Amino acid sequence: MRRYQLEALMNSAQMNTATDEKAKRHLLTPAENMSTLGSTSRPMLASGDGIYVTTPEGRRLIDGPAGMWCTQIGYSRGEMADAIAKQAMSLSYNSPWYTTNSPAALLAERIARVTPGDLNRFFFTTGGSTAVDSALRFTEYFNNVLGRPMKKRIIVRKDGYHGSTYLTAACSGREGNWQNFDIHQDRIRFISSPNIRLANGLTEERFLDQLVTEFETTIMELGADTVAAFLAEPFLASGGVIIPPKGYHSRIKALCEKFDIIYISDEVVSAFGRCGEWFASEKTFGFVPDIITFAKGVTSGYVPLGGMAVSEKLISRVSGDSSKGGFFTNGYTWSGHAVSCAAALANMDLIEKENLLEHTRELAPYFQNQLRTLADLPGVVDVRSVGLVGCVECMTQQDSVIASDADKAFANRVDDICFDLGLIVRPIANMCVISPPLIITREQINDIISILRKGIKLAAEELL
Ligand SMILES: Cc1ncc(COP(=O)(O)O)c(C=O)c1O
Repeated sequence: MRRYQLEALMNSAQMNTATDEKAKRHLLTPAENMSTLGSTSRPMLASGDGIYVTTPEGRRLIDGPAGMWCTQIGYSRGEMADAIAKQAMSLSYNSPWYTTNSPAALLAERIARVTPGDLNRFFFTTGGSTAVDSALRFTEYFNNVLGRPMKKRIIVRKDGYHGSTYLTAACSGREGNWQNFDIHQDRIRFISSPNIRLANGLTEERFLDQLVTEFETTIMELGADTVAAFLAEPFLASGGVIIPPKGYHSRIKALCEKFDIIYISDEVVSAFGRCGEWFASEKTFGFVPDIITFAKGVTSGYVPLGGMAVSEKLISRVSGDSSKGGFFTNGYTWSGHAVSCAAALANMDLIEKENLLEHTRELAPYFQNQLRTLADLPGVVDVRSVGLVGCVECMTQQDSVIASDADKAFANRVDDICFDLGLIVRPIANMCVISPPLIITREQINDIISILRKGIKLAAEELL
């Protein structure tokens, strides 16, 4: 056992209700329920190993959602701890505003080897929101340099999620998240979620035609000279693992090319192995975007990092002789952080050494088939999956499409029961999401499915 793991265990033994009290008293966490602030706190996790996390009391749970879809290589990897420690001891920080560091340069070159097309220029950020924010700011900069000040509108989709900065929150189409915030969307236009469950019985082909027509009509209505970008996840992750009809992205991309609109593929969830590829846009979904944003799996969650990859074609239009003397002044104190970039390099080493992309591709059909065996359980209306990510959608009425409070309560009950049975499930409204670390085995997938089955059955007995 490594020193780090031993210390984690000792710390966890020392953690007690006092820590919990401190969390209750002082922490404000994402999506905090303000009505219970101070009286409840979230389950405390003390350590992790492989696909498991452990509470301070020693309860071991399968990490079903891989943290927040990010712990690809699993917990307690000594190689990661070593790489992080080594970089911290050589150069822990440099200002990216007037110096650079070798892990950032090495990482950019390394990712460039696996990005689609000519997406070879990288801007590193602190996470997913700042990656998408930077991509949107880049498109604004781009059009201003090109002398097209009107070309600023962004087309996005209902059910999409792109982050929690002012701009990325405004581009996120889950209305529940807008409550009590001032969301400024004058430059943002929402189009339909590509969710076949909302297709009113259309075939997949007809639904696809309808979505593509809607996109083109929206451009026409707004005026192509006012539309700067289309921003979309390859599959809508937080929206409930919504997988668009086959051919959706390439047809939308063709329209973007026709109207000189930048296609930003938000791969914050789908990149770094989730679909069995470094990036999912080209290999899984069949199109090459102009910009890709990424985060999460790039460091397997060990330290924060995000980034955008921009095509050389775009860069060449606003650099060198075409730069008009401009400075792309978007940036962060932590842009290209040396320790984060060193961690990302070690993470990529491990993914390669352990063939985790091949492993994911091999295991995905098994995971997906197993998940589908839950489709006939009471309360389950849909099971969707791609790569190693899946969603079990629950409804208390079999034929409903829009989730009611009762549907959300049902899914929450499933999550709670699963937690008691040893599995963390990501609760998103009426959907139970599973996206395990990529190192998972068949046996561990069986464990997940068996707990989920029990959880759904017990919740149905209680609530249906
Ligand atoms: C597709 C997508 N984009 C952006 C983000 C925001 O990333 P972060 O939370 O790292 O800022 C997320 C977060 O879940 C995401 O799922």
